[in-house]
Amino acid sequence: MSIWTDLNLTDNPYGSDALQASAEGASLLVGRDREVTALTLQLENTTLHPTVEGLNGVGKTSLVFVTCYFAMERFKARESDQLFLPMRKPLEIHGDFAALERSVYQEIAQSLLLHRDFLQQCGRYSPALDSLPSWLNTPILRSGGGGIGGLQLNVTNEANASAGFEESGFRLLVETALAELFPTSARGALVGIFDNMELLGKSSVAQAALERLRDGVLGLTGIRWVLCGSRGIVRASISSQRLTGKIASPIELGPIPDDKIDDLVNARLAHYSAGNPNGVPVQAAEFAHLYAVTNANLRDTLKYAQNFTVWLAMQGELDRPRQDFLPLLEAWLAEEAALINESIRLQPRQWKMFDDLSAAGGSCAPGDFADFGFNSLQAMRTCLVHIERAHLIDAEIDEDDRRRRTVSLSSKGWLVRYARSKFEDGAQLNTPTTTSNEK
Ligand SMILES: Nc1ncnc2c1ncn2[C@@H]1O[C@H](COP(=O)(O)OP(=O)(O)O)[C@@H](O)[C@H]1O
Ligand SMILES: [Mg+2]
Repeated sequence: MSIWTDLNLTDNPYGSDALQASAEGASLLVGRDREVTALTLQLENTTLHPTVEGLNGVGKTSLVFVTCYFAMERFKARESDQLFLPMRKPLEIHGDFAALERSVYQEIAQSLLLHRDFLQQCGRYSPALDSLPSWLNTPILRSGGGGIGGLQLNVTNEANASAGFEESGFRLLVETALAELFPTSARGALVGIFDNMELLGKSSVAQAALERLRDGVLGLTGIRWVLCGSRGIVRASISSQRLTGKIASPIELGPIPDDKIDDLVNARLAHYSAGNPNGVPVQAAEFAHLYAVTNANLRDTLKYAQNFTVWLAMQGELDRPRQDFLPLLEAWLAEEAALINESIRLQPRQWKMFDDLSAAGGSCAPGDFADFGFNSLQAMRTCLVHIERAHLIDAEIDEDDRRRRTVSLSSKGWLVRYARSKFEDGAQLNTPTTTSNEK
């Protein structure tokens, strides 16, 4: 029962996962020429770890993967001697460094094995690659540490090898493989992503984490990491003395411009086309409308495009021939907004803050409290807590850097904003409660 095949598509064209380092990813990436060039120049011509800063859902991970694919294609076409191979999947930095390092080494090993045939074909090979599979199958690595494993050791057969010893043997092998495959940056590198750095919270925490990793996984020969994050975390965390010389200044990723959205939709429809796509409800106009409602958040737009199509199917609307789905899209958005709105209980002052924040572009720094009519950060924080509880914003206070724009409207927030701006004074959607349901 696929809606999409009924619509003459081979699959869902609005998947909201990051684009992959593949021909498909490359054909779907739109509007990033400058950023692809910037990232490529950094990878090819520096030894620094590149960084990408931009809002959630703007396309950071996709940019890195597809850039890697382009570089790989240039290598295959013999236009470059540098080989950049993407790691299988992005990783996230967290506070458990032992576990983090373990998963980094395992991911590196898995990624190298994924590319093993290709490496061999192009005359890049490290004998260490042959030993990796058996190591990955040892219980110590499979279980993520602890205990003495099955000892399928082909480096040592000491029966009393400690778990730590086994693990360090594995790491040495991974490091050897990397160093043999990519001895200098002129040969290229494996490209890894440390994604969503904003999840570390404060910039001091992120900075401490990077400093700690500096001589560890960030110091490995043969691998380049691209650090990605939102809400200013990247810029704020890489400025320390210990990190300069290792990490590049951020590539700032803004939203895909509105005038590229037609191309973006059409690339997807063309890619997934299996016939005449005229019946597809979300085409350029509908997508552009959703893109405006989400304040240019691509991931949210894609999510809504899917949800709306499923909703239409439920209503039986997909069976009827129709030219223009915009009126139905409006009806669906109003329904979604009304559902959200029913659960919100905010006081007038809190609504005012919400409205002021969305009017100001949807984000602010805690240090902006006076601009929003509060006489202290504490007063603004109290107000924000209520709005955050209603899931209309993501708010975080970075005690180290109150200028970081850590407060921003969520996808629910933008939908409510849209509904409030559509119905004058929010009359239909916002009846500010006078009774307080809040603690
Ligand atoms: N340049 C682009 N062209 C087309 N689609 C894109 C582009 N960048 C991102 N996307 C899509 O937008 C969504 C979010 O992208 P992602 O890279 O995961 O964002 P981020 O890492 O910034 O959160 C994904 O579904 C992805 O396919
Ligand atoms: Mg991402």
